[in-house]
Amino acid sequence: MDRVIGRDRLVGEDDVPNLPYLNAVVKEIMRIHPGAPIAYRISTQETTIAGYNIPANTTVAVNLYSTGRDPKYWVDPDTFRPERFFEESYANLDVKGLHYQLIPFGSGRRACPGFGFALQVVPAGLAAQVQCFDWKIGEGTADENGRLNMEEGDGGLVSYRANPLVVVPIRRLDPFLLI
Ligand code: HEM
Repeated sequence: MDRVIGRDRLVGEDDVPNLPYLNAVVKEIMRIHPGAPIAYRISTQETTIAGYNIPANTTVAVNLYSTGRDPKYWVDPDTFRPERFFEESYANLDVKGLHYQLIPFGSGRRACPGFGFALQVVPAGLAAQVQCFDWKIGEGTADENGRLNMEEGDGGLVSYRANPLVVVPIRRLDPFLLI
């Protein structure tokens, strides 16, 4: 962040394409903790998927969470490791619905129409938080290894944390002086 943006201006949306590690972090977050873990479809006609017969008018749940952690496609699937997106086998993957092992916005005609907006706002918002603050893990938020506890709740339409997030911002830069 310091090398690409410096410390005398606030990072913005235009900077996002120049921050490859930040983009890899966002992809890894969306792989391992997709905001919406399941996409639903209803079959309009009888069909066969992976050898299973699906009658017409059947609700099909596509598990985006488990595709993102499928060991057939991901080495060390449960480990948060953004660097994987710089390796040859993952470098060309994006989250826009064409690579079925990574579809946090779903895919096809009913894919998330907000993905373009989300892919502007999420990395830029994260970038500003990283540029302006160091984040210390607060009370009750560490796991047994002293890392951020990322355990998830029991499920639902959207993912949520099992435990409240308590973090303490330590100021690196003052965004109000930078604007
Ligand atoms: C990180 C942010 C977001 C994530 C992870 C996300 C994820 C998803 C997913 C997985 C679906 C289901 C796709 C499918 O069934 O194939 C969906 C649908 C949808 N999303 Fe998002 N979304 C995000 C942000 C947004 C935003 C910012 C908007 C609107 C401004 C939005 C509007 C919608 C709508 C309207 C649908 C229903 C589309 C349909 O059923 O035809 N989403 N989203």
